[in-house]
Amino acid sequence: MKVIKDISALQEISDYHRILRKKIGLVPTMGYLHEGHVSLLLNARDECDIVVVSVFVNPKQFLPGEDFKEYPRDFLRDYHICKKSGVDYIFNPDEKEMYKENYFTYVNVKELSDKLEGIYRPGHFTGVATVVLKLINIAKPHCVYFGEKDAQQAVIIDRMFKDLDVDTEMRICQTMREDNGLAISSRNIFLNENERNEAAILNKVLNEGMNMVLENRVERCDELKKILEEKIKSESPNSRLQYMSITDDKLLDEIENLNEYKGEIIISLAAFYGDTRLIDNVSFTKM
Ligand code: PAJ
Repeated sequence: MKVIKDISALQEISDYHRILRKKIGLVPTMGYLHEGHVSLLLNARDECDIVVVSVFVNPKQFLPGEDFKEYPRDFLRDYHICKKSGVDYIFNPDEKEMYKENYFTYVNVKELSDKLEGIYRPGHFTGVATVVLKLINIAKPHCVYFGEKDAQQAVIIDRMFKDLDVDTEMRICQTMREDNGLAISSRNIFLNENERNEAAILNKVLNEGMNMVLENRVERCDELKKILEEKIKSESPNSRLQYMSITDDKLLDEIENLNEYKGEIIISLAAFYGDTRLIDNVSFTKM
C-alpha cells in the first residue's frame, strides 16, 4: 500500500493501471475511518483490481462556524485500517495541493443542493460535488463508492455524473449501524454514553415510519412526521430534531399525500445531541 500526496503522481499511477486494463475503484472519505467506510472499501476490493481511498477533510464543504477544525483526524489509524482492508493507494493530499492559489471553479448541482440538508448547510453540497469531481479527475476510477447514509449526497453526485457525462460508475452501499441501530459516523465519538443510547431512537422511528407507509397506516406526510417527531421527543429528551423530510429520490421534493404516491421514498432527518449533528435516513419503494 502506498500513500500518495501529489495529484500528478496519482494521475500517472491511474494511467498506468488503465493501460494494463486494471479496474480502478475509488472510495472518497474524510478519514477517521470506521466500519461504514470499511464496508465501502471491501465492496471496492471485491469488484476492482486497484483500490484507491482518498482521505481528505475537505474545507470547502464546511460552512463558517461548522466543525472543520474539530473534525476528527487520525491518519496513522486510517493507514492501518486501509492496510487491513486491502487498499492499494491512499490519496492524502494537503489542502494546498487540492486548492492551489487562485482556485475559482465550483460545481453546483443547483436544484438538489438547496433542499433538505442544503437548507441548513447552504453551500455544503457545492463543496462536496466540487471535491468529488476533482477526485474523479485525479484517481480516474472506473467505479466510485458511496454510502446510503448520506442519501442526498448520493442523489446529488448521481445527478452530477449524469449531467456532466462522468464516465465512472457509482455504487451505493448500505448503511452500517451500531448494535442499537445508530448509524456509524466519525462524529459519534463526540456523543456521551447516554446520548449514544438515546440516539438509537432515530433509526427506530425511521423504520417505524417506513412500516407505517408500507402498511398504508397513514395518508398525509405531515401527519406521519408529527407522529415520528413526537416519538423522538418523548423517548429521547436530549435530542433536538433539526428537520425530518419525506421525499422522492430524484428531485427530493416533499411528498404530501402518500395514498397518491408510488415509487421510491426517502425519509431523512438531522438531529443534534449537544453540538453533535447526526443524520440518518431510510429509503424504500412504495408500490
Ligand atoms: P465521509 O463522511 O468520510 O464518508 C465517506 C463515505 O462513507 C460516504 O460515501 C458516506 O456515505 C460513507 N459512510 C459514512 N458512514 C457510513 C455508514 N455508517 N455506513 C455506510 N457508509 C457510510 O461523505 C463524505 O465523507 C464526504 O462528503 C466526501 C464524499 C468524502 C467528500 O468530501
